[in-house]
Amino acid sequence: MTAGPDANVPDMNTQVRAFWEQGPCGTNIGIVGDAEPLSREWFETVEQNRYTLEPMIHGAAQFTRHRGKKLLEIGVGAGTDHLQWARAGCECHGVDLTDAAIETTKARLALYGLTSSLQRLDAETLPFDEDSFDLVWSWGVIHHAEHPERIVAEIRRVLKSGGEFRGMFYKRWSLAVFKEWIKHALLRGKPFRSFADVLAHHFESPGTKAYTLQEMRTMFRAFDSVEVSPAMTPYDLQHLPGFLKGWLPDSFGSFIVIHAIK
Ligand SMILES: C[S@@+](CC[C@H](N)C(=O)[O-])C[C@H]1O[C@@H](n2cnc3c(N)ncnc32)[C@H](O)[C@@H]1O
Repeated sequence: MTAGPDANVPDMNTQVRAFWEQGPCGTNIGIVGDAEPLSREWFETVEQNRYTLEPMIHGAAQFTRHRGKKLLEIGVGAGTDHLQWARAGCECHGVDLTDAAIETTKARLALYGLTSSLQRLDAETLPFDEDSFDLVWSWGVIHHAEHPERIVAEIRRVLKSGGEFRGMFYKRWSLAVFKEWIKHALLRGKPFRSFADVLAHHFESPGTKAYTLQEMRTMFRAFDSVEVSPAMTPYDLQHLPGFLKGWLPDSFGSFIVIHAIK
């Protein structure tokens, strides 16, 4: 029998995993310099860089308002937010597609004497009972999965009635994506290449997606309420003339911050 054309191509989430196993995001050498990996200095550099670039995380998460709640984080990455949830007194559970993220987050919590139940898995299927969690947090993760809508359905399933989802997805019509489109489509003589195609091939792991605000509301339509707000980021403003930066509205930004209640 002849093999099909894709017989040797790993499935999308295997490719996504291979990408993020190279290192949790926000831990590359340009950020951590020569700090000893997994040392306190290394983690604190990662943390400082993260909240300098993405200060809106604090408003989106509201870490200290959730003391005592049972929290699930999907896509813990280097564990920076997970540490804040643990510090805030949540009962923490975290998952990620990679060993790199789970081992980094374990080391990070141990360094500060905190604990969490951490598992490496694909969040398209969650091993938790329905109505288990008060809060699910996921920042910049679900748009990397092959089937984001499956993760959103799993989030709703494992949340208690009245439980909340807080997180962030990428926004398609944004300066950050437009700049990648100029580089990979327009300047290569392919002006008909879509933003979605550029995102899938040139934006972090393979298959990355991004949404409109309306698409986001639709994805969360089974929740009782959903609020979506665009956010401007340094990734959108990078390389733009300084005088423009204060004037560009959040609607040109590449993040959609979301708060949904089951
Ligand atoms: C851009 S990083 C974000 C990590 C962290 N939330 C942060 O903001 O730094 C994306 C993370 O999502 C994880 N991820 C991607 N697809 C996933 C999936 N299907 N299930 C669980 N985790 C996934 C990756 O392994 C990676 O750690």
